[in-house]
Amino acid sequence: MKQDIKYFDTVALDDQNNALLIIDQTQLPGNKEILSLTKIEDIWQAIYLLKVRGAPAIGVAAAIGIYLVAKQIATDSYSEFLIEFRKAKEYLASSRPTAVNLFWALERMEKVVLDNPDTDIKQIKNLLREEALLIREEDIRVCKSIGEYGLSLIKDGDGILTHCNAGSLATVKYGTALAPIYVGLEQGMNFKVYADETRPLLQGARLTAYELVEHGVDTTVICDNMASQVMKNGWINAIFVGCDRVAANGDAANKIGTSGVAILAKHYGIPFYVCAPTSTIDMNIKHGEDIPIEERPSEEISEMWYKQRMIHQNAKIYNPAFDVTDYELITAIITEYGIIRAPYEENLKKLFFDLRNPF
Ligand code: MRU
Repeated sequence: MKQDIKYFDTVALDDQNNALLIIDQTQLPGNKEILSLTKIEDIWQAIYLLKVRGAPAIGVAAAIGIYLVAKQIATDSYSEFLIEFRKAKEYLASSRPTAVNLFWALERMEKVVLDNPDTDIKQIKNLLREEALLIREEDIRVCKSIGEYGLSLIKDGDGILTHCNAGSLATVKYGTALAPIYVGLEQGMNFKVYADETRPLLQGARLTAYELVEHGVDTTVICDNMASQVMKNGWINAIFVGCDRVAANGDAANKIGTSGVAILAKHYGIPFYVCAPTSTIDMNIKHGEDIPIEERPSEEISEMWYKQRMIHQNAKIYNPAFDVTDYELITAIITEYGIIRAPYEENLKKLFFDLRNPF
């Protein structure tokens, strides 16, 4: 399906055709294609191959995906339904290891099934549909709120540096790290954004630059190793990045290269903000070193963007997809509920306590 992607959300449900709709991000910016995925194997592949990517978007895709699988389970028996549901859940959960939103969304969907052992299967399927759509709707609201809090930390005309893509394409809409920029745009502000190209898969060059330019934002792409220079030039007032998982102590895993940007930010005295919906905060993981880090195929480094292999056949290649930024380097974590500052361990615990115990 070739259409103008401006009119599409990154992830959506086409219930009539039993399909998950995604913008194929591997084709951007050259080719704007919407994929309609009906098979669980295709949804798994789409997540693994980064056709749909970014922690929140992966979570929403998995929620819609598991609903579509559940919808096709042909049984009236609750126990048989649960077994089939869990098989599909385990399978989708194996697509990528780092973004906790994937597991968070699948757990939420499973809870719907577990909370309704005496409900008929048709009704459970309806409830699953509602939950998947709620996860999707919440994502839009959450990102907008992160944008509003983030915007309070910058002023019109500021230079902003970002790494990877934590924009609209990584969520349903708005993004996390780019949300302050989009919310600012809605209020008539503009910013100068520097997008790290983000080796090896070029999410910054291909995706961040694409969506920012489409929104009319002043955008400059730099190679990852130029970040120090633009900071030294005095062009950067703040750094906003997304994340795939925040540990209980505030350590944050994000696209490989993020921790280096944080170290540079400290050197130059530039605030380094991590934008994290609470769905990305994993209070079950104490420290960043316990966050599973995905390693991806070496061809992404040696061959992917070249006509022919660029690295000697016998050279070893190490391709971790994420790194962990130490909490000491993070100026603040911006959530949909507000701006969290150090001490993170204490303040994150308090945030989740307050969420569980509303007044
Ligand atoms: O491998 P990717 O492209 O899925 O990695 C994405 C990131 O690192 C994003 O910064 C993160 O998921 C946050 S998206 C709002």
